[in-house]
Amino acid sequence: MKKINFFIMILLLLVLGIYAEASANGNGKKIFEQYCAKCHGKDGSVSEYGKSIKPMPAKDLRTNKLFISPKEILIIIKYGIYGREMKGWADILSQNDIKDVAEYVRNFNYKPNQEEGGKTFKLRCASCHDRDGSAKKIFEAPDLDMSPLGEKELARTIRFGRYNTMMFPKDALLSNIEIADVVSYLMSIKK
Ligand code: HEC
Ligand code: HEC
Repeated sequence: MKKINFFIMILLLLVLGIYAEASANGNGKKIFEQYCAKCHGKDGSVSEYGKSIKPMPAKDLRTNKLFISPKEILIIIKYGIYGREMKGWADILSQNDIKDVAEYVRNFNYKPNQEEGGKTFKLRCASCHDRDGSAKKIFEAPDLDMSPLGEKELARTIRFGRYNTMMFPKDALLSNIEIADVVSYLMSIKK
């Protein structure tokens, strides 16, 4: 009898444990699917509707770790992005809901396509940086195969640009995915 009670207790603890874990991420998932998936897609890869939004389409969220810090993502969800279809959610979601959905988004993943990145590089970057990433010396564009920058710094430099230089922001030109692919290409040519 005692043995059976013990067994039932263990089973109960296991079930409770799984349930607690599921509801911690479950709230973020529920909120995302209810409020965000319409534009960003269920897996963060942007819905057909999201792609059609003007003036800027919804952004792919699978790459968010490359561009946005943990604090920034909370601010973006709470206050939105001025002048864009991404409105603030502070009136609809509690602070805890915002935290849960941010954590859920934070766990999305994207495996970059290096070959696509190489193509984009030749098309969009090689006019200033040379085809193989070495310096062309136009507008003093640097040697990218010698760049000391890591993944996140590369991604942010490409998306947001370098103020007051010929390295313009590429935010409107390239999607988050295209930038993530270019970054993976640049990481592969480092000397
Ligand atoms: C009506 C469509 C729409 C809905 C619904 C929506 N978004 Fe957005 N979201 C956008 C658009 C458009 C952008 C890109 C704005 C820009 O151009 O910078 C964006 C950008 C973002 C970004 C910044 C991504 C980046 O790489 O800069 C985050 C994070 C984000 N949304 C999270 C969410 C979350 C979480 C929800 C749900 C609570 C949500 N969004 C709901 C349209 C939407
Ligand atoms: C119009 C010319 C031009 C184009 C096109 C261009 N860049 Fe640049 N890039 C520059 C210049 C100039 C700098 C140096 C900025 C400075 O002085 O800090 C730079 C700097 C960079 C850096 C910083 C390197 C470091 O080590 O600090 C990266 C990364 C970079 N570019 C990547 C790219 C990628 C990827 C593309 C294509 C999507 C691209 N650039 C397109 C001119 C250009």
